[in-house]
Amino acid sequence: MSGAARGDVYGVLTGGGDAPGLNAAICGLGRRLQAFGARLVGFRKGWAGVIDDDGREFEEGEFDGLVTEGGTILGCSSATPYRNADRDVPRILETFRRRGLAGLVAIGGDGTLSAAHRLHQEQALPVVGVPKTIDNDVAATDFTFGFFTAVERATTALDQLRTTAEAHDRIMVVECMGRHTGWITAYAGVAAAAEAILVPERAVELDELCNRLENMRAHGRRSAVLAVAEGARIHEGGRLLSSTERDEWGEFVTGGAAELVAERIQARLGWESRPLVLGHLQRSGPPIAFDRIFALRLGAKAARLLSEHRFGRMACLRNGDVVDVGLGDAVAERKALSEHFLDRYESFFAGAM
Ligand code: F6P
Repeated sequence: MSGAARGDVYGVLTGGGDAPGLNAAICGLGRRLQAFGARLVGFRKGWAGVIDDDGREFEEGEFDGLVTEGGTILGCSSATPYRNADRDVPRILETFRRRGLAGLVAIGGDGTLSAAHRLHQEQALPVVGVPKTIDNDVAATDFTFGFFTAVERATTALDQLRTTAEAHDRIMVVECMGRHTGWITAYAGVAAAAEAILVPERAVELDELCNRLENMRAHGRRSAVLAVAEGARIHEGGRLLSSTERDEWGEFVTGGAAELVAERIQARLGWESRPLVLGHLQRSGPPIAFDRIFALRLGAKAARLLSEHRFGRMACLRNGDVVDVGLGDAVAERKALSEHFLDRYESFFAGAM
């Protein structure tokens, strides 16, 4: 590791919602830095910990076994320095000065990485990003860690729900997380052979969806399992039924999609339909092996970027290789399901407008 001096102090934070693999990323980062003789301070609760200088230095051996654990030992929050920039940006600079930080790794999704990018651009802060989110919506990386664990959880749930759906001749309408993208829903839905998949990237007309289900019933199908993204855009007679409410950032407020779909199917087809919101189960518990290794690799890559003073970069996965990109590329846009994926698995998305 060139560039970094023995005894250099670096920081790390985990921002946004937790995702399986965060501890493995901290482990990959910390082990690599300690091997070099550098030190690592973990800040609690995302950016809030840097703003309030709420952090502590990791000790030797503290990373042992961490790779297996879900959640994050640092805690996380959606705090951002730019909600109250006049007050909080100077406080971040002060934490850097007080602690003598040579650099900081921000592990997070869009919000956390956007703040990191801005602090680097506007304040020349020596930051490096590591993308994480179960939603897999960060651009410039093929995948984010946590995503495949969430897909695994959702797939298992969809698989298991078949038996009860069959026993009662019901439709189980299963809502998956993902905020404004349908990555988890689409991957789990295809993997579990869901009878229909509803994602934000392809708006759905209820008439079409009901025709599809009615057609299945006419061919002898007595039960079904549907995968519905929390942000699915559902229309009836051309009118958008799902939430039109927007949050303070102008984004649609997600949720309630499964209940809406189940209620409409039952009313229209007289086919008993039950909604189930998988919720936080999708990001709870230990990461699957892929996410452990993937997150370890990204953490180690971030250590290398720090040591080479390549700030303003983000560790990422491209075509199977761990490489790096500019933070600006990562936060420029939200990564939605590709048209290619939607076309390839078109039959699952039938009912789409
Ligand atoms: O961004 C990750 C995520 O789990 C989304 O899929 C979901 O919409 C949201 O966070 C839930 O946020 P919270 O944990 O604050 O309810």
